[in-house]
Amino acid sequence: MGKPSPQDRNLTWHYHEVTRDDRQKILGHRGATIWFTGLSGSGKSTVADAVASRLHDMGVLTAILDGDNIRHGLNSDLGFSPEDRTENIRRISEVAKLFTSFGVVNLLAFISPYRAGRDGARKIQEEGDFFEVYVKVPLDVAEDRDPKGLYRKARAGEIKSFTGIDAPYEEPENPELVLDTSKLSPGESAERVIAMLRQKGVIPAE
Ligand code: ADX
Repeated sequence: MGKPSPQDRNLTWHYHEVTRDDRQKILGHRGATIWFTGLSGSGKSTVADAVASRLHDMGVLTAILDGDNIRHGLNSDLGFSPEDRTENIRRISEVAKLFTSFGVVNLLAFISPYRAGRDGARKIQEEGDFFEVYVKVPLDVAEDRDPKGLYRKARAGEIKSFTGIDAPYEEPENPELVLDTSKLSPGESAERVIAMLRQKGVIPAE
């Protein structure tokens, strides 16, 4: 037995007068989701920040949705079990889709360790609206950085089910972009993302 359909639940979709196209005309760019995935400490939030700053300076409307921050509010009821991580990503995938429909370039920084979750996030958006960016770093580099001291705690057994230590991370198979942050500076990574967005026509070419 699947979930009851919207019709069975007496729900009707409303089409609103101001469309995505109308909003994008005002903004001068398309909405899109840039989905950063990778280990804790890989640099997802740092790169998302650097991209957002550059886009903002170019007059592009951006939003950043960051795992740590979203877990303070919208997803404060969720932990790190496989089920909770799946629900975390499901909810945020819907939020990303909404932002895209509003014409916003939304940058997501979630570990999002499961391939199925990331593929699900892609599937609910239109073709060409979703860009998966694998922020790739060897585990030992992330662990050396340990910006929040969490790897140390995980190794000491003070945090259970920590991604990369005793919880899995499934690498992307066909991401739009791979950024090796052990070799690239945040600025260099950001430039690669921006070049991709220009090339794909999300933001105007220079
Ligand atoms: S996800 O796996 O559900 O996508 P999310 O990106 O929202 O994770 O949150 C990850 C952040 O939560 C990490 O950057 C870290 O600061 C914190 N965190 C706390 N406990 C864990 C854990 N067991 N595994 C991974 N990250 C954790």
